[in-house]
Amino acid sequence: MFQILKKQTLAENIQRMVLDAPLIAKKAQSGQFLVLRTHDKGERFPLTIADYDRDKGTVTIIFAEVGKSTEQLGKLNEGDSILDVVGPLGVASHFDPSVKRAAVIGGGLGCAIALPQAKALHGMGVAVDMIAGFRTKELVILEEEMKAVSGNLYIATDDGSYGIHGFVTKVLKDRMDEGVKYDLVVAIGPIPMMKFVSELTRPAHIKTLVSMNPVMIDGTGMCGGCRLTVGGKTKFACVDGPDFDGHEVDFDGAMRRLSMYDGMKERPEDCNLIKMAEGKK
Ligand SMILES: Cc1cc2nc3c(=O)[nH]c(=O)nc-3n(C[C@H](O)[C@H](O)[C@H](O)COP(=O)(O)OP(=O)(O)OC[C@H]3O[C@@H](n4cnc5c(N)ncnc54)[C@H](O)[C@@H]3O)c2cc1C
Ligand code: FES
Repeated sequence: MFQILKKQTLAENIQRMVLDAPLIAKKAQSGQFLVLRTHDKGERFPLTIADYDRDKGTVTIIFAEVGKSTEQLGKLNEGDSILDVVGPLGVASHFDPSVKRAAVIGGGLGCAIALPQAKALHGMGVAVDMIAGFRTKELVILEEEMKAVSGNLYIATDDGSYGIHGFVTKVLKDRMDEGVKYDLVVAIGPIPMMKFVSELTRPAHIKTLVSMNPVMIDGTGMCGGCRLTVGGKTKFACVDGPDFDGHEVDFDGAMRRLSMYDGMKERPEDCNLIKMAEGKK
């Protein structure tokens, strides 16, 4: 069991939780994720390690309540425990030590996943420009935290209610047009956003990393659920990623695969076979 030491609501339906998980904290690195299960009939679902503290033995998750499992998690409070937390999983981010200036771009909740990447780059002495995009002012999260790990923080909102009016791609393009020379761009958020950032940086030959979030089940390379095409080859996001070269990812294929599951998810507690085995049907 993994106790929730701290819970904080960052915006409507967006929660931050600090978990007591000393063994995970000991090994955690930026770019890695956890697979959680809130109760014995709950589904397994992945969340990024937003932060960790080896001395305190804690890991932090930030999540949006978008469906049943994340809503169940969101109902837990400080002092409650999560049944299973597996991790750290996935390949830790690796940044070339020659990188001098980087743009780290987060789209919506993607900012929570981009934050540890920005922190790692900032810790290496890289000049980090952070570009964070949100639909509207009420959804802006982690402003202070992003400011702390970047030289320049640009917040953009789709409706212009806060910061720069427009998409993160516009902010990145404006910086590039002004002559800012990035040798790395990290983009994390909705698939179309990562695709368009990658299209923008491709002609400028700027190395671009994206973090892919396909549906994951085991998180250890066994089920094949998270497969993607990268550079014409099949990759599993859980063990080969979740970070990949944005210029190599087949984003359209990833979007098609994600939409395949729309409205089809059967959950363990809804499964007729499990109900029969338990004599409920
Ligand atoms: C490597 C990785 C890291 C992630 N990190 C975060 C994070 O830090 N914070 C956060 O809020 N979300 C994160 N996600 C997304 C998160 O896993 C889903 O929001 C969650 O699984 C939704 O489950 P649900 O039952 O609440 O909603 P559902 O109604 O079941 O699903 C809502 C949407 O979430 C996605 N999803 C559902 N099940 C899974 C699954 N097993 N694996 C992946 N995606 C799924 C689908 O796109 C689906 O349309 C991450 C996903 C991946 C793959
Ligand atoms: S989640 Fe099963 S192979 Fe990646």
